[in-house]
This record gives sequence, C-alpha cells and structure tokens, in this order.
Amino acid sequence: MSHPLQSSAPAAEWIRSLPKAEVHVHLEGCVPAVTIGFDDPSRAGVALDPTTGAPSFSGLADFLDYLDRSCALVTEGDQLQSIAHALTERAARDGVLHTDVIFNPTHWPAWRDDLGTFVAHLDAGLAAGEADFGVTAALCLSLTRTQPPADSVALVDWLLDARPERIVALSVDGNEAAAGPTGERFAPLFARARTAGLRTCAHAGESSGPDGVREAIELLGAERIDHGIRSVEDPLLVATLARTGVPLDVCPTSNVRLGVAPSIAAHPVERLRRAGVRVSVNTDDPLLFGTTMTAEYDVCAQSFDWDHGVLAQIARTSIESCFAAPERVSELLALLDDALAPS
Ligand code: ADE
Ligand code: ZN
Repeated sequence: MSHPLQSSAPAAEWIRSLPKAEVHVHLEGCVPAVTIGFDDPSRAGVALDPTTGAPSFSGLADFLDYLDRSCALVTEGDQLQSIAHALTERAARDGVLHTDVIFNPTHWPAWRDDLGTFVAHLDAGLAAGEADFGVTAALCLSLTRTQPPADSVALVDWLLDARPERIVALSVDGNEAAAGPTGERFAPLFARARTAGLRTCAHAGESSGPDGVREAIELLGAERIDHGIRSVEDPLLVATLARTGVPLDVCPTSNVRLGVAPSIAAHPVERLRRAGVRVSVNTDDPLLFGTTMTAEYDVCAQSFDWDHGVLAQIARTSIESCFAAPERVSELLALLDDALAPS
C-alpha cells in the first residue's frame, strides 16, 4: 500500500486495505434479518429502512429488546455456524484480520442450557472462516448488567469449568442506566475470570456516565472499555485514560443510532483522541446499524478530517488492544507496518 502524505481524505479503498482489528462487535448484531424472517417488518416488530433493511430503534432499551426477540429465533446449529462464518467474511472485506466477538448467552434462550454446544457451533463457523479468509477470531462471553446476580454467577461458573479455547475474555454489556451502579456486584466475577487467565472488557460510559467507566476500571479491572465515550464529561477521567493508556473501543454509528451521541460531527471520539486517549473504531452491531468497518473509518475521516496517519494510528490501537494471542498481535502489527511503508 503506498502511503500518501497529503492530507486529503483517505479513499475507502485505502481504508479497506489497512490491516486492522475489530474489538467491539456483538454476535447478536450479526444475525441477518433474513435468517429469522425479520426481513418482514410485521415480524421484526420495528420499522426497517427500505434501502438497507436495517431496523430503527428508539434507544438502547428498545434495541436490547430486539436482540432478545431476534436471537431467540436462532435454534439450529447450522444457523450459528453460518452467522459466525459470515462475520469473518465481512471482516476480510474490510481488512479486519482479527476480530474479538462479544456474545451474551442471555440473549439466546434456545442454547442457555447447552452452552457447550452453542460455543462449539460458533467455534466451527469461526474456524471455517479463518481457513477461508485468514481472519482470526476470539470470543468474549458477556454478562448482562440487569440480570439476576445468580445468573451471572452461573455463567462464570460454567465458563471457568468448561474453558472452551475459543473464549478468551469475560465482558459485561446491556443497560448500564437501568442497572445503576453494579461494580461491587460484578467485581468478584471479574476477579475470578482474571485469576483463571481470561482477559476482561466492559461496556461502560454508553448509558452510564464517567462513574460507570471508573467502576469498570477500578472495580472490574477492565483492560478495555467498550464505548467509554461519556468519559468526555469528566476531564480528570480523560486525563487518567490518557495517562494509563486504557483503550476505548468506540462505535460512532451505534452511538448516534441509539441516541448516545447527537451526530457523528458532535461525537466525543475526536475530543477524546485529541486529549491523548487511545481509541479504536468499531461497528458494535453492524447488521442492525447498517454499517461496516470501512464505513465507520470513512465517516470519521470525513467528519473529523482524519488523514492517513490518524487512521493508521486508530488501526494500530485496534491491533494493540485486541485479545489475539501475542504472536498474532505481533504479526498484525508487522503487517500494518508493511502496509504503511513507502513503496
Ligand atoms: N449489546 C449489543 N450491543 C450493545 C450495546 N451497544 N450496548 C449494550 N449492550 C449491547
Ligand atoms: Zn457493544
């Protein structure tokens, strides 16, 4: 890849070929509407954009309700394998060489009593995707902020007992605003996961404010914050993030679609980046927000005048902060350096 030094907006083709990782994408946001009959608006229960087929949501609660309804319809192993395989294919199209996929068992009632089989199907789809497209993938098992505490404990018990190789991290997602402060409740579970050698990340600073981010770092020990954008409301927290290097995996279109940010132009990612916070750019739930990694990089480049150097730094942070094995991280960083070297 030649590395143009001029500051004109990088072309989509350049963005697409930039080696990168995606570190914030939910399996629940990768279920094609057609797989579950939700391409029929009367079944989807939400309005569908006539051009993209993407549903529209009134906010996070509405969105999470949609995930419960849609994922409940996935009952066959070959559906799971095809969802997993397809996400690696989309990744390859966007120059994503590694993806950390968050999955939340609570959204998938058909599999709740047989998580081993659920994960085995995902593993088969991801392994086939790696063979076909060269994209590596890791799974992050996510707890739900609002679920009964005993359910979170049962999930962590299962995870630490089964220890499927494909699952490398513990995560927590869902509605932080509805749950209120939950750091004390989840802290022992994250501590157990860490002791067992798992990586950790947490949704915070999406529907919670800066306190949610602080809790995720201080009580959960999260290595990476999913979203984290409302950190911008607290200059001291922004300075701490910049100093410690805890990365934020930001999802601009998701934040606009769910009403967390008023527009891409007003999105906090640029203020956070300029303040020295390490940020990556991600899709969150690509099929539900009608977006791709290339589109996310592109819309930020257009809105914030990001040049090739800034986009390369975003890609570098995505690779540095992903949960791939250290040798794979080194390999991806070398590929990025090669791609950026003057030809
Ligand atoms: N699950 C899938 N997408 C999510 C989001 N943006 N916030 C919380 N939980 C989620
Ligand atoms: Zn998310």
